[in-house]
Amino acid sequence: MTKIPKNLQTIESHVLDLQRLHPSASGDFTSLLNDISFAAKVVSRDVTKAGLVEDLLGATGQENVQGEVIQKLDEFANNVFLKCLGRRGQVCIMGSEELADPVFADTSQGTGKYIVVFDPLDGSSNIDANVSVGTIFGIWKRKSQLAHVNQDDLLQPGSEMVAAGYIIYGSSTMFVYTAGSGVHGFTLDPGIGEFLLSHENIMTPFTGKIYSVNEAYEPRWSPRVREVLRQLKYGRDSKKSTRRDAPTDGAGMSSRYIGSLVADFHRNLLYGGVYLYPPTTEYPKGKLRLMCEAAPLAMIVENAGGYASDGSGSILDIVPEDLHMRVPLYIGSRGDALWIEKMLGEDPAAL
Ligand code: AHG
Ligand code: MN
Ligand code: MN
Repeated sequence: MTKIPKNLQTIESHVLDLQRLHPSASGDFTSLLNDISFAAKVVSRDVTKAGLVEDLLGATGQENVQGEVIQKLDEFANNVFLKCLGRRGQVCIMGSEELADPVFADTSQGTGKYIVVFDPLDGSSNIDANVSVGTIFGIWKRKSQLAHVNQDDLLQPGSEMVAAGYIIYGSSTMFVYTAGSGVHGFTLDPGIGEFLLSHENIMTPFTGKIYSVNEAYEPRWSPRVREVLRQLKYGRDSKKSTRRDAPTDGAGMSSRYIGSLVADFHRNLLYGGVYLYPPTTEYPKGKLRLMCEAAPLAMIVENAGGYASDGSGSILDIVPEDLHMRVPLYIGSRGDALWIEKMLGEDPAAL
């Protein structure tokens, strides 16, 4: 006999439960999350058959605003999210990693309540090799009451986010989100086409044994970042440690780096560990984007008990200068990310 999954709660009913706690809620937020989960199912379906369908693998031959190669699946996922989000007028403005300028949602005539910024396909350079990729999104509320949204609505810090999440298209497809009361994970049941609650109230360990960084960039790091990595490997000076169980040598640390932020982040969230993308000579301000990558994952990690830093303070406190602003990122287990911040903070030039 087929076993019934232990939990049959869908994202839709989970968000509805949340909505019931706020009797004045209009349902706009619930329907926005439904739109995102629908778009995720469409992208998931096409990612899994990318090798079969013509025109889904490979590069488009174009570059995005950041000079990065746009893969065909980047473009596809971007169009799916643009089309699905805010169909019922909940969204006033959207920002995408793939588009230079924000997009005003035409369904809301500028009156929608929410701002959504997303990375439609993260880790896209891995697509052709069947490696896990993802989508990241952050949701803010508009501040202006006027019919026309402005820059101040868009450029809000992570601390003002009302929800954030990611989808990982891996061995199974998972949707992980937080609206400020816990981090919850749902796994797509392909048979019924629904995301079902599989990981309720995810909490990340205070310290972990995994560090994730592109170590080939060591020659392009500052001396201080090199020292952080040396101590992660060979052991830490205990006086500076914020780890409760700081090892005196590197025994037990492991390195894991997929090169898809969502996949590296997701593994470390569940197992404990820290992901680092320090400034390099190529990317002196860091490579990862504040609004569509770092801030949403920072909200998730903090709601799971972890921490995200740019090397001098919380990612959530940074006010974006523009939609595509980049930041250094140290994110994961709280003890580990704080330790790195402390190490780097002793030498501001490290950034
Ligand atoms: P994207 O595919 O959305 O452009 O993001 C790529 C990012 C991130 O997913 C990953 O962690 C990082 O770039 C990898 O960079 P390196 O190849 O420099 O290590
Ligand atoms: Mn990305
Ligand atoms: Mn991307």
